[in-house]
Amino acid sequence: MARKKIALVGAGNIGGTMALVLAQKQLGDVMLIDIAEGVPQGKALDVMESRLPMNIAAVIAGSNSYDDLAGSDVVIVTAGVPRKPGQTRNDLIGINLPIIKQVGEAIKTKAPNAFVIVVTNPLDAMVYAMQKITGFAKEKVVGMAGVLDSSRLACFVAMELGVSADDVQATVLGGHGPDMVSLYNSVSVGGIPLPQLMDKETFAKISKRTADAGTEIVQLLKTSAFYSPAICSVRMAEAYLLDKKSVLTCAAKLDGEFGVKGGLYCGVPVVMGAGGVEKIIEIEMTEEEKAAFAKSVASVKEQCDFVDTQIK
Ligand code: NAD
Ligand code: LAC
Repeated sequence: MARKKIALVGAGNIGGTMALVLAQKQLGDVMLIDIAEGVPQGKALDVMESRLPMNIAAVIAGSNSYDDLAGSDVVIVTAGVPRKPGQTRNDLIGINLPIIKQVGEAIKTKAPNAFVIVVTNPLDAMVYAMQKITGFAKEKVVGMAGVLDSSRLACFVAMELGVSADDVQATVLGGHGPDMVSLYNSVSVGGIPLPQLMDKETFAKISKRTADAGTEIVQLLKTSAFYSPAICSVRMAEAYLLDKKSVLTCAAKLDGEFGVKGGLYCGVPVVMGAGGVEKIIEIEMTEEEKAAFAKSVASVKEQCDFVDTQIK
């Protein structure tokens, strides 16, 4: 059976890392696409040259042409600029929206059957734009953020309790921004509800660190995080390619779920399998969490309203 084809549009820090991780997991052949001359080709060749010790057969290629999107089963989009210290994700909308428009038009014509995972920031607005531009079914266009934010929450809970992150289940909902919502009652540690192990005040501190985690790394690295976003994006692609029916928090299109109308994209729990976003799971929240979620959705709506002024 022919291997699947995974196109990575954007061969920068996240794209290059995804190429290596995808190759290691043998999820399919990888096509790195970027406008930077030589970068996708060079990174692809570098990963190819590690196939012997990795004991893999997948082919990793690089291109500066969107034509090489053809036949892709999955397209993961990181094309755009990341934050610099002092910038918010929303500060990127002016420069990244035209890029997403260009990439979306290429995906629409060259890879009409692909499952599209958007990573570019500001994430919720960019994935909203991507679905609008491609016109693909909402189940086939999704944003990567909640998997990362939930992984960060799990990491900080594990660090605080001195336990393995493996045993922490955590959910962060809402937009991928400072008002994202960490759900205290959704966190479990080895099946034990977090409220039995950690008081609300400690959790509030950890929630704040989770919401600021991207900024914390930008201040250290002078650019955005890329290892964890790459691994989280691959986790989503894997759920689709292997029909895993994984329950993941992703930016999905809401048409009434969680009371959100108008087709906004926002981080919610979904079942992800071969059908893409196969189901949106509506979960109970406290009144405080519902208010925080509504605030986060309002921030996303502002960004999507701007997208609507730019993309008819
Ligand atoms: P990067 O600068 O390392 O890579 C971006 C790449 O996009 C560059 O190589 C650039 O040449 C390429 N590019 C620009 N315009 C293009 C176009 N029209 N077609 C194809 N390629 C194009 O940045 P990065 O660290 O990989 O981050 C990429 C994006 O992901 C940024 O917007 C960043 O903010 C975002 N990000 C999102 C999350 C998330 O959780 N959703 C996490 C981290 C970063
Ligand atoms: C950032 C990613 C985490 O902007 O969204 O740093």
